[in-house]
Amino acid sequence: MIGIRFSKAYVTLLLLFGSFIVLAMSPSAFSVEEKSLLQPTYVGSLQCKPCHTTEYENFVRYAKKSRSYRSIERLEKGLSSNDLEKCYACHTTGYGTPGGFVSVEKTPHLRNAGCEVCHGPGSVHVEDKLRVSITRLPTLQLCYTCHTSERIRAFRFTPLIHGGGH
Ligand code: HEC
Ligand code: HEC
Ligand code: HEC
Ligand code: HEC
Repeated sequence: MIGIRFSKAYVTLLLLFGSFIVLAMSPSAFSVEEKSLLQPTYVGSLQCKPCHTTEYENFVRYAKKSRSYRSIERLEKGLSSNDLEKCYACHTTGYGTPGGFVSVEKTPHLRNAGCEVCHGPGSVHVEDKLRVSITRLPTLQLCYTCHTSERIRAFRFTPLIHGGGH
């Protein structure tokens, strides 16, 4: 009896210990590809099109965000490169954050303010297609990071949560 109990406990301990080792080792054991799945990065709006065609087409047709890089280009001539960089934070996707817009040459797919400025970086979601891996409802607080009070005054409108997307 005691012998059986003991060996059961022993096996349990061994299993526990084993899983600790696996857990401890796993971060370094992940391949680069798997690591990129852990930390979502930006993929660009076109990647969403195959599965969310309606949202994509409405967005491209109606939302000014889908053409927001053009607004920079319209004023480009009169601006220094320093000034231009300031526009990127609001008129492109993910500028200044890991995996975000860098330049039109390096990251053309992120040059406009796309789906991911509201729904968050989508690299994990486009792979696993799960609802948990994407933000459904952005907060108004998020809108205000770009629609600042200064701009709301200048353009005389306050964004409502269901505008500007699709
Ligand atoms: C390979 C297909 C696929 C791609 C690509 C894809 N999605 Fe999804 N998405 C899904 C599926 C499946 C669901 C879950 C639908 C359901 O359960 O109602 C979903 C749900 C969502 C939801 C709702 C989440 C919720 O909580 O209800 C949002 C928002 C979303 N996707 C945004 C995006 C964005 C933005 C992109 C591009 C970065 C994208 N999706 C790319 C398949 C995809
Ligand atoms: C990353 C910055 C950013 C975020 C976050 C953001 N917007 Fe915008 N939005 C813009 C820019 C830039 C434009 C103007 C694009 C242009 O005309 O060049 C715009 C335009 C709009 C417009 C004008 C009309 C239209 O159809 O395009 C509305 C409405 C709007 N946004 C609503 C929202 C709402 C609601 C949220 C939050 C859920 C939000 N925005 C979040 C940058 C942002
Ligand atoms: C803090 C965020 C932010 C920054 C920085 C920013 N913009 Fe915008 N811009 C917006 C938003 C938001 C709108 C949409 C109107 C609104 O809601 O105020 C807009 C609208 C515009 C429009 C008008 C588009 C139209 O169709 O009427 C132009 C042009 C523009 N921006 C150019 C620029 C340029 C050039 C820069 C850099 C010098 C810049 N913006 C910097 C957020 C920003
Ligand atoms: C300006 C912010 C904004 C942008 C940009 C945006 N969305 Fe959304 N999206 C929303 C909001 C707000 C909802 C509504 C969430 C709710 O009411 O539950 C939503 C809902 C969704 C849903 C859930 C189904 C539905 O319609 O309720 C999907 C899927 C989705 N968006 C995909 C996309 C895709 C794909 C793009 C780019 C082509 C995109 N969104 C761009 C704000 C945005």
